[in-house]
Amino acid sequence: MKVRKAIIPAAGLGTRMLPNTKSIPKEMLPLVDKPVIQYIVEEAVSAGIEEILIITNRGKSSMEDYFDYAPDLEKALLRDGKTRECETIRAAADMADVFYLRQKETKGLGHAVWRAKSFVGNEPFAVLLGDDIMLSETPVLRQLVDAAEKYGCSAIAAREVDDAHIVKYSSLQISPLEDRIYRIHDMNEKPTLSEKLSNYAILGRYVLTPEIFSILESTPPGRNNEIQLTDGMRELCHQQSMVAVDFEGKRYDTGNLCGYLEATIDFALRNAEVGPWLREFMREKLAD
Ligand code: G1P
Repeated sequence: MKVRKAIIPAAGLGTRMLPNTKSIPKEMLPLVDKPVIQYIVEEAVSAGIEEILIITNRGKSSMEDYFDYAPDLEKALLRDGKTRECETIRAAADMADVFYLRQKETKGLGHAVWRAKSFVGNEPFAVLLGDDIMLSETPVLRQLVDAAEKYGCSAIAAREVDDAHIVKYSSLQISPLEDRIYRIHDMNEKPTLSEKLSNYAILGRYVLTPEIFSILESTPPGRNNEIQLTDGMRELCHQQSMVAVDFEGKRYDTGNLCGYLEATIDFALRNAEVGPWLREFMREKLAD
């Protein structure tokens, strides 16, 4: 099973990050030295993805500019001898073939993924949620692709979370296959505590077989009156095998302020240029 294409749904309104996101897409907010969306694209590329479709919405065109060349800026940088800066912005544009499609209506994650049907065609593909950032040795999507290839089926990222969090995610009914890999039997979106199937939650990365598209076509609106990807995947896991990967690594929800700050601090501390300075600064601050 070769996974060459990825979808990044990035059409959300970013309401949890207002007013920051009034005129800047949440995916374009900076995480230390580059925007959130670049981390996602880098993860996809390092997992072997060749073509990426970003599902956008009105007011999100700065993402398109970001992955494009910027001839005037590049010329000005070279004129001023800023070769490194010029190479950095070029590299972002050359990372992958990035395509864009507007969701047009905000009808949920399942609808956003369904819009990618003709881009994907009849092959397995990846989905990376635009505000879930991962920090790991092996890219989380790579871990999923490896499991999908090994078992010849869809694979989704999962992690055990506490009761306070499971109600915000999808919960999974699973049974163990091997270390960190589980067979999925059932799932539900944002369950109440009495509805939860376990404390294993789906977290932001998926490798799916193309049969999901015909299922999503007829998936009715579910939780929050939106077409939920989880409802489609629930049907898919009843038709075909599907595995959950309890991935190695840390996941940040940069779509809310605490998750965004947590990611900012962790990534800054690991950054070669500012990390040592920040560590010292924080030590002094916390000693105050
Ligand atoms: C989405 C999905 C949900 C998943 C979560 C975390 O929810 O609908 O199934 O568990 O992402 O990745 P959202 O965060 O958009 O509410």
